[in-house]
Amino acid sequence: MNKRLWCGLLLGFALAAGAVHAEEAAATLYPANVNLNDRASVQRGARIFFNYCAGCHSLEYMRYSRIASDLGLTEQQVMSNLVFNGAKFDDPALSSMPAADAAKWFGRAPPDLSLEVRAKGADWVYSYLKSFYLDPTRPVGWNNTVFPSTSMPDPLWSLQGVQTAVFAPAKPGRDARVEKLDLSRPGLETPQQFDRTARDVTAFLAYVAEPNVYERERLGVWVILYLVAFSLLALFLKHEYWKDVH
Ligand code: HEC
Repeated sequence: MNKRLWCGLLLGFALAAGAVHAEEAAATLYPANVNLNDRASVQRGARIFFNYCAGCHSLEYMRYSRIASDLGLTEQQVMSNLVFNGAKFDDPALSSMPAADAAKWFGRAPPDLSLEVRAKGADWVYSYLKSFYLDPTRPVGWNNTVFPSTSMPDPLWSLQGVQTAVFAPAKPGRDARVEKLDLSRPGLETPQQFDRTARDVTAFLAYVAEPNVYERERLGVWVILYLVAFSLLALFLKHEYWKDVH
């Protein structure tokens, strides 16, 4: 093959990759605005996670006892509010669903979510949770505008309600695209309350992806104090040394 053909092929691939990327980027992400210093939000998120997600998803790198100490919960609170699968306080938060069965049921085993927020970003996770809609053409009955053709059924539909897609008319060469999602059946929460729920569970996953965040902030205060004290000391020393020169 000659050089020009290679260049043409490469350019073609690059353009195709760009187009796929642009298509993916088309879904608007909502800003998650998680605040890890809002401990109550992260605690609520933990509760939602263990009630609505942990049946399928594990947090391999996170132990219940660590969650307790980081989020200021007692062993008793964690064991009665977060542990539903007979795990012990010092165990990692593993889902009890066997991966092979899960792959059979959903087409893909639910991935571990320990590092999900680091991999995809908080805005992506938050928007994903808000963007499910009913789609009878999909095996699980649900689809998602942020993660098209996802094999995860909407875990929070009872809270959010059921959304249906309104399609923009198909243009030549392009399939009909979801224009917006309508809440066709309200859930147990209002849209504002549900935004908070989605934000809380995202905040919990952001903490799980970066569990040192609290420790770092606690240490950070001491580092700054040390630096201030040391600067003052250096200043006094400088005055002392230069006193005789001037
Ligand atoms: C019934 C099982 C089930 C439940 C419950 C569930 N998920 Fe999932 N989840 C899945 C499956 C299966 C996938 C893989 C989807 C795919 O790749 O098509 C997935 C994928 C994901 C992903 C995308 C991972 C990636 O980057 O590919 C995120 C984020 C996620 N789930 C979060 C959650 C959260 C948060 C909850 C609880 C509110 C939850 N899931 C509840 C089955 C589940």
